[in-house]
This record gives sequence, C-alpha cells and structure tokens, in this order.
Amino acid sequence: MRAIQIVELSGPDSALRLEELPDPEPAHMLSGGPAVLVDVHAAGVSFPEVLQTRGEYQFKPPLPFVPGSEVGGVVRSAPDGAGVKPGDRVAAFCMLGGFAEVAAAPDFFTFPLPDTLDFAQGASLVLNYHTAYFALKLRGRLGEGETVLVHGAAGGVGTAGIQVAKGLGARTIGVVSSAEKEQVAREAGADEVVRADGPWKDEVKELSGGGVDVVLDPVGGDRFTDSIRSLRSFGRVVVVGFTGGSIPEVKVNRLLLGNTEIVGAGWGAAAMSQPEINARIAQGVEQLMADGLLDPVVGASFPLERAADALKLLDSRGATGKVVLSVR
Ligand SMILES: NC(=O)c1ccc[n+]([C@@H]2O[C@H](COP(=O)([O-])OP(=O)(O)OC[C@H]3O[C@@H](n4cnc5c(N)ncnc54)[C@H](OP(=O)(O)O)[C@@H]3O)[C@@H](O)[C@H]2O)c1
Repeated sequence: MRAIQIVELSGPDSALRLEELPDPEPAHMLSGGPAVLVDVHAAGVSFPEVLQTRGEYQFKPPLPFVPGSEVGGVVRSAPDGAGVKPGDRVAAFCMLGGFAEVAAAPDFFTFPLPDTLDFAQGASLVLNYHTAYFALKLRGRLGEGETVLVHGAAGGVGTAGIQVAKGLGARTIGVVSSAEKEQVAREAGADEVVRADGPWKDEVKELSGGGVDVVLDPVGGDRFTDSIRSLRSFGRVVVVGFTGGSIPEVKVNRLLLGNTEIVGAGWGAAAMSQPEINARIAQGVEQLMADGLLDPVVGASFPLERAADALKLLDSRGATGKVVLSVR
C-alpha cells in the first residue's frame, strides 16, 4: 500500500516521505487485540500530526511511523462480534496509520457512516464531533435554550462545536480572526460571529443579554480571562485545546465571584478508558446525524502525496473546517 511516513522530526517541510509498505495487520494497540481493517478513501489531518513532525506531541512513536488519527472508508475485514462488517462505509479513529491506503482501527472506534455524508466528511467526524459532544453535553452540561460561545469557530473543533451545540438546541456565538473565517463559521451554522481582534467580550455580553452559559475553548492563550468574564452566573468554560500557543493560568477568585466553573474535556482519555462514555457519545452523535443536524465542513483536500502541504496549512493558521487527504 502507499502510505506517508514521518521519517525524521524536522517539521512538516521535510519530515514526511511517501513509501510503499505492507498492509497493516488486523490488530490494534488500543484494543489489545483484533482490529477492523479499513480501505481508506479519505484521511483526516489534525493538529497532533503537525506536532508529531517535530516530536512535540505527547505520544511519540519510534521512527519511522505512519501518522493519521482518523479515516473515512470501507471495511475490508472485521473481527467476530464487531459492530461493522466488510463492505460497510465507516468513520474510524485509528490514532496512527491513517495516512495510508489501508488502516487498522479498534472496533469500538469504528462507526457506521450514513449515506448522506461522503468519505471526506467521514474522515472529519470522530475526533472533532465526538470531542464536541463530549465537551458540550457531558462535560459542559449544555441544555436546550442555552447560549454557547465557540472559539476558533471556523476550525475543525469549532465548526463541529457549532453544529453539535445547535443540534442540542443551543444558540451559538463564534469567535474568529478573519472575514473568510467569519463566513465559514456562519455557513457551519453560527447564529452570531464576533472577531477575535475586536472587543469580542463586550459584544458577546450584549448579544447574549448579559453572558453565555458555556464557552467551548480549543484556543486558550491570552483570551482565557475574557472567556471567564463572558459567562453568566453558573456558566462553564470547557477547556479543549491550546492552539493559541500558551496554557492560561486563572485567578480562581473570579470563579467564586461569578459562580462559574472551568472544566476540562479530554475526549480520547475518557472514551478509551470508559466504554460507557464512548457509547454515550457515539449514540449522541449518531442521533444528531440521523436527525440531519451534522454536516462536517471540509475545508481543503490534498492528495496523499501532498500531506506536507496539508500540515503546513494547519500550522500557518490557514485551515478552515477539516483538512483531509484524498487517498483513493
Ligand atoms: N481535548 C480534546 O479531546 C481534543 C480533541 C480534538 C482536538 N483537540 C485540540 O483542539 C485544538 C483545535 O483543533 P482543531 O482541529 O479545531 O484545529 P484548527 O482546525 O486548526 O482550529 C483551531 C483554531 O484555533 C485558532 N487559533 C488561534 N490562535 C491560533 C494560532 N496561533 N495558530 C493556529 N490556530 C490558532 C484558529 O482560529 P482563528 O484564526 O479564527 O482564531 C483556528 O481556526 C487543538 O489544540 C487540538 O489538539 C482537543
């Protein structure tokens, strides 16, 4: 099979090589045993892959390795008792090995892909939408009729967050850094969009009639204190990531004064260690898909051999929606 490997830790420009490799075995370290083999049609590209080309991600496999955490494709083989069978269209989270024509994924992270979504959308589904559902519903306790502020609202987690929040009956306000990204956030379904370089905190307070109920934050950095200030009483900031570069520190008296909360949402660790949490998320996302409320936004698509360009787009803050590799 054709696959992209990370062969050195020198950044997206030079770390990747297109290779001819044997197909993977139907086994996966996350299941500790058998796995689903997927004929990959599209591979999702995410921030961890950018970091992996520099050796900066927390999970550091020995070199060389095939990166790529999720795919959309067709099941080639499945172990006994799996929830999918050969020929099924699926969205799968494989953690590694997705930038290839064949990938192995654990059964519990392989989900049926409805006919209404194409393979590129399948490659955009698990990481961002399962994270958004986990963060908003299970960690942020988002309720119908509440208002959500979504940072990085034109990005992968951001567009997913808008759609999941809308699907759960909430009103959404997106924060973005450019006019192009404002357009993307609106097309993803944001009710309101404010600009990160403007007086967004005051605008958000005005638009929400005094403060939002939940902030979904994949960005972090120096806007974090204003995120807390944007909450109404009993509001929650859900911490998802730090694309802004720095990890914020908080004066916790603000939480006491405002009766507010900050909660962390680490989807992978929760879904891998607690099958019932994984199942609740999967059921929630599946229901929203069945109701036609999720339509993953695919921004740029590159052929497999141009994986470096895909990573550089993310690295330069130029990506919108999900970036994918078209594999076959
Ligand atoms: N906790 C979890 O379980 C979990 C799961 C999935 C992903 N994540 C994390 O969530 C974060 C977002 O992932 P994503 O796939 O949504 O990424 P993305 O598509 O690149 O979107 C991130 C957004 O961050 C904003 N941003 C602000 N400052 C930035 C900077 N200096 N460089 C790049 N972007 C910057 C950008 O929006 P503006 O330009 O509009 O500001 C961008 O659209 C990542 O850190 C990822 O690792 C966490």
